[in-house]
Amino acid sequence: MYLNQIDFLSLRENYPTPLYVYELDRIKFRYQQLVDLFSSQNVKVHYAVKANFNPHIVQFINKLGAGIDTVSPTEIKLALQLGVKKEDIIFTANNLTNEEIREAGESGVLFNLGSTSELERYGQIFPNTKVCLRFNPDVIAGSHTKIQTGGPLSKFGILLDHVEEVKAICAKHGLSVVGIHKHTGSGIKDQSAYLQAVDNLLAIITPENFPDVEFTDFGGGLFIPYSPDEQEYDYDRFASTICERLAKLHESYGKKLNLYFEPGKFLVAESGNLLIQVNTIKDNNGHLIAGTNSGFNHLARPVMYDAYHHITNVSNPNGEIKSYDIVGNICETGDNFASGRELPEIREGDYLLIHNAGAYCFSMASNYNLRSLPTEICLTGEEVVHHKPAPTPESLIAQLLG
Ligand SMILES: Cc1ncc(COP(=O)(O)O)c(C=O)c1O
Repeated sequence: MYLNQIDFLSLRENYPTPLYVYELDRIKFRYQQLVDLFSSQNVKVHYAVKANFNPHIVQFINKLGAGIDTVSPTEIKLALQLGVKKEDIIFTANNLTNEEIREAGESGVLFNLGSTSELERYGQIFPNTKVCLRFNPDVIAGSHTKIQTGGPLSKFGILLDHVEEVKAICAKHGLSVVGIHKHTGSGIKDQSAYLQAVDNLLAIITPENFPDVEFTDFGGGLFIPYSPDEQEYDYDRFASTICERLAKLHESYGKKLNLYFEPGKFLVAESGNLLIQVNTIKDNNGHLIAGTNSGFNHLARPVMYDAYHHITNVSNPNGEIKSYDIVGNICETGDNFASGRELPEIREGDYLLIHNAGAYCFSMASNYNLRSLPTEICLTGEEVVHHKPAPTPESLIAQLLG
């Protein structure tokens, strides 16, 4: 598991906590790793911006060479406003209204459509255009049921056995299918499940089904470890197995197709950390509870997905090890970062660091209990290159009052 080597204690002298700290070098490292792993392919990465839409991070990743995978019209607008070219944006939304289809289509981005209803309505509005199709790979995988997107009951993607229906809709509206996509789930530990999903998808890519394909898109889900018990993925084996599959596909299809990925966690999870302060220690007859100045309004993954986030006591790293529940300041029993976590003694005023907090943390944060979103900073090395202050309570109330 990756642990950032940043002097977090000195940062809190200049920035208030709760404080999100992002290490840009780590994002660059992971981006380069992915591109290098698939250097034998024409590989293109589209960053799943829903993982973290901090504008500085989006621009940083775009400048590395990545495009952007978007899931809402506003994400498209943000990407365009940040200077991402429309050709570098894919739109993978679901359950769209016709107005949303029209609005997104007029921006000129490529749609990745995951239902026959949306394909039909898109075709009526934008006939004779190019589309990517999102299929459900018929594999259930991912680190929690709420982020598994494949399988017969999933709302995502077109079922593989609906290919004929899809072909008929595309023919009716003159749609040219240039991309075939799947996203199986997030945090897929099991390489064989990922590869099974790849195999299921590749099986439908034939010149007879889809004569105009330019790329295959395997979505996100690339695994990174969140806990010391989890092993780093064997990415070399992963990449070589995928490349073998692609070689066969390219031969049977009759041309080399481009390869797309749309990672979120893989690129940004390790870069982020949430620095929080302990306000209250409670001793319930030996059961210790450390109450902090943050909560699931700032980092919801433990509550939403039972996710493990590594936590360190940065202001008392050598204290006596004790067991703690680490909780937030939100008025809700489930507001819990960790239960029974062994940590060096935590004293009131100590600073705790929640690791791997770069993906689906700030972007899922809310103003629940009318607490403001945290401050965010981005670092290159130890230098702060971007600072987004927390909104003030006054600005929050002004927004509510309109
Ligand atoms: C369509 C799609 N693509 C990509 C991603 C990114 O997934 P991850 O962050 O696991 O790489 C997601 C997230 O669930 C997604 O729904």
